[in-house]
Formats: sequence, structure tokens, C-alpha cells
Amino acid sequence: MPGTAGSPTPAPPSPAPPLLTPTPDARAAADAIARASGRSVHEVTLVLGSGWSEVVAGLADPGTAVTIPVSELPGFVPPSVAGHRGTVTSCLVGGVPMLAVAGRTHLYEGLGTDPVVHPAHVAAAVGSGVLVFTNAAGGVRADLAVGELVLISDHLNLTGRSPLTGPTFVDLVDAYSARLRAAAADALEAATGSRPPAGVYAAMPGPQYETPAEVRMLRTLGADVVGMSTVPETVAARGLGVEVVAVSLVTNLAAGVTGAPLDHAEVLAAGTAGAGRLTAALRALVPSVARA
Ligand code: HPA
Repeated sequence: MPGTAGSPTPAPPSPAPPLLTPTPDARAAADAIARASGRSVHEVTLVLGSGWSEVVAGLADPGTAVTIPVSELPGFVPPSVAGHRGTVTSCLVGGVPMLAVAGRTHLYEGLGTDPVVHPAHVAAAVGSGVLVFTNAAGGVRADLAVGELVLISDHLNLTGRSPLTGPTFVDLVDAYSARLRAAAADALEAATGSRPPAGVYAAMPGPQYETPAEVRMLRTLGADVVGMSTVPETVAARGLGVEVVAVSLVTNLAAGVTGAPLDHAEVLAAGTAGAGRLTAALRALVPSVARA
């Protein structure tokens, strides 16, 4: 029996080393970020979804932000989608050094998985133990309302793609850290007065929105929200040994829920309308997950 008299207590198992190491481009980007910002470690990396580049300005402790266009950093692809801006910002949030990537690359851009998961590699290269992903998502579960924040508890990878090749058998049992999700939920409840629901995120390849039949299928499969990002990046992050917290803003009810057509401009507008709530949530969430 462990710990009984006469037998030594076994040491706790040490965590397995990461299966992936950051790419050379990610290491070069991290060096450039350290030179520009004077910060050699960023405890948290935040990846922002559609149209949320201005969220960073509202998050950063005053006078701490250094912003670099992604065009000046190796491995990043300037965004092609209206409403996405390609910048990387080093700043402090509640005193915690954070790197924010605004303007991710999506699978539907057809550039393969490497640029999609580059921010995860950069996060590992800048020393982040935690990656926070935000995204815009369609509400699949009937009780979700537009404007609501959902903490992602698990995912369905329906993209048919993986960022991994070769024998990289990454464990995804706790892909979205339960410990950090609890800390995030506590922080959001304290900051906003309501505890965010948890939900399963279904990743679709896009760029087309789903059909109503696909949304019924997603509901049957156990999805609560649906989007076109976050999943390849989370797989890479777990391979790199970085913990993940992910937040969806429900920008629309998924196809067929209301019968109204889905309009990208309306999705973007709902994202913009939710930016203030997201900023307040992240100001509480980032320091709390860094210290959890
Ligand atoms: N489906 C897929 N991706 C999305 C949606 C949606 O309804 N809303 C925002 N991103």
C-alpha cells in the first residue's frame, strides 16, 4: 500500500514529455517577439477569432502593449477574411505577460494545417503554459442565446483533418483542461454575475455554413456549438504540452434553428456586438488561468 509504514511512498508520475516541439518558424517568431517586446516569456497566449483585434486594446494593462503586424513575423499568413486583422501583441493583463494573436488562419483558406496551428507553436516557443482560444460559433443546443459565452469542454473534430503526421498519438482526454475551465468559470461568474455554460464544440471544415440536416446531425452527435476553427490548434497545443482554455461567443443560432438564412455580415456584427462582453470576460479569465 502506498504510504503505509515500512513501504516507501512512490513518487508521483512525472508528466510525459511533449510529443511535438515548436517549429523553427515558431522559434524565430518567438525570438522576434522577445526582441520587440523585451519580454522573454509570455505565460498565456490568446488567439482571437473573427473581428476581435480591438479586444486586445481593452485587455492590456495601460502602457504595456507592443503590437507587431504578422507580416513581419515568420510563419504567419496575413488573414484573407474581412473582419480579421493580422497582429501579434505582447502585453500584461492583470500583471500577467500575455501574447495575443489577432487574425488566425482557417482550414478553409486551403493553405493546409501548418499556418492554422502556427499560433500554437508560437505559444509553446514563447513559454506559454496556457493557450486561450476564442471563436465565433453557431448555437446548436436549443437553450443557447446569441451573445452568450460558452466554455468549451470537449470537441468533435469533423474537419477530416489533423495537424499531426507520423506516430504522434496525442492524448485528448483532457484536451480542454477541466482544472482551468473551473478556474475560468469562477472568474467569469465573479466578473459578469453569471456562470458560463460548458459545451461541446463541433469543428466543421467550412467555409459554407451547415445545412439544417447537418445541424440536426451535430445535435444528435452531442454538439452544443459549431464553428470552423480552434480544433486543429487545440490538437497541436496538446501535442506541444500546452494546456487549453477555449471560449465560444454564440454569434447566431445554427442553421435551421430559426429558419432564417445565415449571413456572414450578421455573424460578424454579432461578434462586434459581443466584443465588450468578451473583453470583460478575458480580463478576468487570463490572470485566473495563469495562476490556477
Ligand atoms: N457555423 C459554423 N461556423 C460558425 C457559425 C455557424 O453557424 N457561426 C459562427 N461561425
